[in-house]
Amino acid sequence: EIKNPLASLRSAVGTLRVAKRDDQREKLLDVIDHDVRRLDRLVSDISNASRLDSELVKEDEEAFDLLKMLRNLTDFLGEEASKKGIDFITDLPPDPIVVSGLEARLAQVFVNLITNAQSFCEDGDAIRVWARQRDNRVLIVVEDTGPGIPEQALSKIFKRFYSERPKSDFGNNSGLGLAISKQIVEAHGGVIWAENIRPTDADITSEPLGARFVVGLPV
Ligand SMILES: Nc1ncnc2c1ncn2[C@@H]1O[C@H](COP(=O)(O)OP(=O)(O)OP(=O)(O)O)[C@@H](O)[C@H]1O
Ligand SMILES: [Mg+2]
Repeated sequence: EIKNPLASLRSAVGTLRVAKRDDQREKLLDVIDHDVRRLDRLVSDISNASRLDSELVKEDEEAFDLLKMLRNLTDFLGEEASKKGIDFITDLPPDPIVVSGLEARLAQVFVNLITNAQSFCEDGDAIRVWARQRDNRVLIVVEDTGPGIPEQALSKIFKRFYSERPKSDFGNNSGLGLAISKQIVEAHGGVIWAENIRPTDADITSEPLGARFVVGLPV
């Protein structure tokens, strides 16, 4: 992942040395700028992910109210969604749900899920975040009315560096969000999965009505 932009950078610099026309130079500078930004993002995402490994073994777990955390996040991210014309719905029970773990890292999971949903939604779409406790488990669901996930991608999206986005976004995403989220959730003894929203009897080649991400955590 690091080598590709690096090779592109090296070749752009090499070509720049021999480019004579200003418009050619301008184009190459754009390529360089783009590669540098991609590398910058990759390196900080990778270093963040590798810090995770050591954090997860240090065991500085704390008990905290998951719902309070979700309310803080959804207040902030919901406002951003509303500005894009997205209907942001939260449905959280009134009583606290106390879980034990690394609060900042679990928050990162939901920020990843909600910002992903936001990025695939347009004006008129909706995102819903809801949570419910049942015995000693809590389920947190982030669902959206965006384009859904291509069926053949469902098994890949949690892999490192898998990112499939409209070309206009190229370079802004490392494809680490869901891989890191899975690692965090599993380190807390939880599960995470993705599914498309579509009628039971619909053909799996039909267009989904949206995407749904589910996180289950022990309480
Ligand atoms: N809500 C969603 N609707 C449709 N596709 C999604 C959704 N969330 C994730 N995906 C797909 O899963 C891929 C992987 O997601 P992930 O968060 O790991 O990477 P990313 O968002 O592309 O990059 P990063 O999180 O590092 O910025 C996305 O590129 C996209 O193709
Ligand atoms: Mg992401």
